Amino acid sequence: MKIAIGNDHAAPELKNIIKAHLEERGIEVIDFGVAVGEKADYPVIGEKVAKCVASGEADAGIAMCGTGIGISISCNKVKGIRAAVCSDCYSAKLCKVHNNANILCFGARVVGDELAKMMVDCWLDAEFEGGRHQRRVDLIMDIENH
Ligand code: RB5
Repeated sequence: MKIAIGNDHAAPELKNIIKAHLEERGIEVIDFGVAVGEKADYPVIGEKVAKCVASGEADAGIAMCGTGIGISISCNKVKGIRAAVCSDCYSAKLCKVHNNANILCFGARVVGDELAKMMVDCWLDAEFEGGRHQRRVDLIMDIENH
């Protein structure tokens, strides 16, 4: 499995923690930066992560900024993306089970390191339920064609 990961200047430390956590799980990480000390506008990073997922190069993505809000909005502008900003494990699990979110977002100024790792595990270990949720996800994706 390959995960695209990216962050602005508010989240490089958390990104490094999440990256190490993913690698410990045997997941290959494609890192779109930025590193500690670098500045970045979250829309630029969000677009890179989202396009990597939308193209199929990565199976899924994780994107972080200060709140997780700006980068999730940016990711959601890319066709094919369902990015969910989460700050609890229930939402991180359900955004996969019900919404089949292909990018998980969170804010380094909102969640702690341990909660962030736990949310990543909840999201990765959850499975999309399909059925009535597939119909709703199809309706979401159809908005892109209107
Ligand atoms: C950057 O200071 C901050 O605005 C950004 O990380 C994010 O929180 C935006 O949504």
